[in-house]
Amino acid sequence: MPDTLTIIDNRTGKQYELSIANDTIKAMDLRQIKVNENDFGLMTYDPAFMNTASCKSMITFIDGEKGILRYRGYPIEHLAEKSNYLETAYLILYGELPNKPQYEEWVHNITYHTLIHENIKKLMDGFHYDAHPMGMLISTVAALSTFYNDAKEIHNPESRKKQTYRLIGKMPTIAAFAFRHSVGRPYVYPDNALSYTANLMSMLWKMTETQFQAHPALVKALDVLFILHADHEQNCSANAMRSIGSSHVDPYAAIAGAAAALYGPLHGGANEAVLRMLDEIGTKDNVPSFIKGVKSGSGRLMGFGHRVYKNYDPRAKVIKQLADEVFEVTGRNPKLDIALELERIALEDEYFVKRKLYPNVDFYSGLIYQAMGFPVEMFPVLFSIPRTAGWIAQWEEMLLDSDQKIARPRQVYLGSGMRDYVVMSKRK
Ligand code: CMC
Repeated sequence: MPDTLTIIDNRTGKQYELSIANDTIKAMDLRQIKVNENDFGLMTYDPAFMNTASCKSMITFIDGEKGILRYRGYPIEHLAEKSNYLETAYLILYGELPNKPQYEEWVHNITYHTLIHENIKKLMDGFHYDAHPMGMLISTVAALSTFYNDAKEIHNPESRKKQTYRLIGKMPTIAAFAFRHSVGRPYVYPDNALSYTANLMSMLWKMTETQFQAHPALVKALDVLFILHADHEQNCSANAMRSIGSSHVDPYAAIAGAAAALYGPLHGGANEAVLRMLDEIGTKDNVPSFIKGVKSGSGRLMGFGHRVYKNYDPRAKVIKQLADEVFEVTGRNPKLDIALELERIALEDEYFVKRKLYPNVDFYSGLIYQAMGFPVEMFPVLFSIPRTAGWIAQWEEMLLDSDQKIARPRQVYLGSGMRDYVVMSKRK
């Protein structure tokens, strides 16, 4: 069977043979299909990239029908059980699990890039007391661009490596400073003796003790959550990262853009929206009427549905198990009962079944974060920290891909034709 697609243009009767590679045709191959020489040529119309591959990638594999997620070939469930966040970040970035010396060097490099310039701290001081920490994170990461001029050398692999250490190292510090600022507590500097997640918890919650001792089960739980959030192929923020990065701007500016994309309630802001929704529902008894409202179009069931998964999100499965371990330490989050009831009813309901709407990663993660003591505003921030590894991996892959150019979609123009300018006194 030839790997080709035959197209007959019924406007002209002409026949075209397009090659098929990796189950795709090249959109540019359609351009030759014209009604006459002056015709621009055929394009595809695909708002929101519903059926367009914007890149080739070797980082993350998702089979949405089967509910499979793998980083560099490794199933997410195995990584969640056996790996840790920094090891997984290395895997995502460099394609292989590190050996011992590689791992130690990697952890050392991240650990020794956690401090932020004192002027960054001053910049953060300027935010209003009730500034949303995600807004602070986005702005502060953008500001890092002005501190590291070498970051502009995006074609220099050594510079890219350095910015990688800085970004993965400093994200928790910025996140923690944003939180401390919002509650009016003094900033806590990074503690190099602690693991990545234990250090974040120390910077968030340390008071006057010499060393903050986070509960090991909670450190582990946060680490697993970070593994689950590390990458997710061509989602809205990864696409923003690639698109912004394709103009060859420095990675701090690009990550600020990617984080901004993540902030919205349809993406990484969904975990915050889930908790607000559970608060609004209030009690288990109100679940049926809430579901009825969703079905009649008054709002969405947040934490449900996914562009790619038409099955249970494999990350949600891991998180649901993790919740039990966390609640054993923190006590049960009372909103869990409402969430479980929502899930039970939704999974049996024709509306959700027909549309293949299942719980996604954000449905249960917020309940865990809240039980651990994070305020809801911090949830998208907690998503951004681990996703930084994914964003950088996607950015670097884009930069090194000879097929890639500056991202510049086409449009179907349906506006006015040429018109003569009308002076104001003559306008209706
Ligand atoms: N509640 C109720 N109905 C829904 C939901 C939902 N959460 N999600 C989708 N639908 C319906 C939607 O109304 C539509 O119905 P109809 O065909 O009758 O018009 C159908 O399902 C298909 O929805 P869509 O909006 O075309 O699907 P999409 O692929 O464009 O959107 C989504 C994907 C994740 C934005 C959407 O499912 C949603 O808004 N979910 C709630 C927000 C959320 O949990 N986001 C987190 C996503 S996972 C983590 C991440 O990406 O950061």
